[in-house]
Amino acid sequence: MGEFRFFSAGESHGPGLTAHVEGLPAGLEVSETYIRQDLARRQKGYGRGRRQQIETDYAKITSGVRHGLTIGGPVSMFIENRDFSTGKGPDGVLWTDEMSIEPSDVPYEKITKLRPGHADTPGIVKYSQDDARNILERSSARESAARVAAGALARTFLKQFDIEIFSHVSALGDVESHADINEIDWSAVESSQLRCADSEAETKMIQEIDSAKEEGDSLGGVFEIIAYNLPIGLGSHTQWDKKLSSRLAGSVMSINAVKGVEFGAGFKQARMRGSAVHDVIRPIQEWSNDGKTKFNKPWPRRSNNSGGLEGGMTTGEPLIVRAMVKPIATIMNALETVDLRTGEKVEKAHYERSDITFVPTCAVIGESMVMMVIADAILEKFGGDHINETTTNLANYLESAGPRG
Ligand SMILES: Cc1cc2nc3c(=O)[nH]c(=O)nc-3n(C[C@H](O)[C@H](O)[C@H](O)COP(=O)(O)O)c2cc1C
Repeated sequence: MGEFRFFSAGESHGPGLTAHVEGLPAGLEVSETYIRQDLARRQKGYGRGRRQQIETDYAKITSGVRHGLTIGGPVSMFIENRDFSTGKGPDGVLWTDEMSIEPSDVPYEKITKLRPGHADTPGIVKYSQDDARNILERSSARESAARVAAGALARTFLKQFDIEIFSHVSALGDVESHADINEIDWSAVESSQLRCADSEAETKMIQEIDSAKEEGDSLGGVFEIIAYNLPIGLGSHTQWDKKLSSRLAGSVMSINAVKGVEFGAGFKQARMRGSAVHDVIRPIQEWSNDGKTKFNKPWPRRSNNSGGLEGGMTTGEPLIVRAMVKPIATIMNALETVDLRTGEKVEKAHYERSDITFVPTCAVIGESMVMMVIADAILEKFGGDHINETTTNLANYLESAGPRG
C-alpha cells in the first residue's frame, strides 16, 4: 500500500493494540461508534472461544481527527486488551507480570512445547528465543482487531463513493453453502451465527463444529467477499506491483491461517474452455441496472467470471474475492511435538485458549484488508488532500469513461 498505509503494533496479552493509518484526506467524518460496529462483527461467530466474550473491543482514536473530521495527518487508534489488567496466563501468572514491559521478578513458565502449525518453531530460531511466548504474542490473530479498526476507516472513506463491501462464509469444514453471492440478503448474513447465507448449510456447519469440539479438533473453511460500485480502472497492468489482483491477493493472504485466494470463478476456470470463461463485453444499451451498481457502467459484461479484474485492473463489475483458511492449529487434543529445552519428543504441544473455528471472523478481517487495498487504489488514481477533491476527481474521470468515437 502506497497511499493508504496501515501498520499495527501490539501483543495478544499486552496492554493493547495500536493501529496507525496514513493517507486519509482531510474532511472525512469518522467516529469511534462506527468503528466499533466492525469490531463487534469481528468478535461474533459460533465456535469462537471465551476471549470473544471477555473482549468488547473499542478503538480509541488518538490522533488525526478533530471535531469528528480527519485533518489529513496520520490517524492512530488504541484498542485495549481488557484481559491484560486482571487476567492470568495458562501458568496462573497475571498478564501484567507475564507481559511486563519492565523487567519482572515474578516467576513464570516459558513455552517450550512447540505448537505445530504456528509461528513458534521458525520464530524461536529466527529471533533466537528460548520462550515461544515471544513469538506467539505477536503472531496471534488478536492483531486482526487493529486491521478491522483500520478497515472501518477505509469503509468510511469508500462510502463517499458509494462503494460497499460484504462477506459471507461459503464453506466450513466440508459443509458448503449453496448461496449465490449475487442474491444474498446481507442483513440476514449479519444476524446469522456463522455469517452464512444458506440456513440449511448453517445448521450442518453448527453440527460440524459441535462434533469437532467433542473430538477436541478444529475446522477451517472458505469465505467470500464482494465489493459493489468500484470504478473501472483501479490498479494497473503496467508493473507487477501495481496490479490490483496481486495487491488484493497479498493482503488477503496476510491474514493468519489464509492459505489460498481466488477471484471470480477462481480455480474452477482451469477446467473450463476459454469461450465459457471470458466475460463478453456488451454495448451499453444492452445493460440494465441491477440496482446494486450506482453509476452507469460504460462497458458492461454478460458474466463476471473474472471477479471484476482484468489485467490487474477493475472492470467495473463487482469484485469477488474468495479465500481458504486452514483449520485452527491449536487443537484441544494437542499434537505430538518436541520440547525446545531438550529437543526430545513430547506427547502434547502447549495448549493456549483456542477457538474451534473462526471462518466468520476471517471474513470480516478479509473485508478490512480488501477495503484498505481499494482505498489505496482510489487514492492512487484520484488523489486529493481533501475528500471533496477526491470525489470531484472520481466524478470527472467517470465522465470520460464511455465510448470515444
Ligand atoms: C481471527 C483469527 C483467529 C484465530 N484464532 C486462532 C486460535 O484460536 N487458535 C489457533 O491455533 N489459531 C488461531 N488462528 C490462526 C493462527 O493465528 C495462525 O494459524 C498462526 O498464526 C500461524 O500462521 P499461518 O497459519 O498464517 O501460517 C486465528 C486466526 C484468525 C485470523
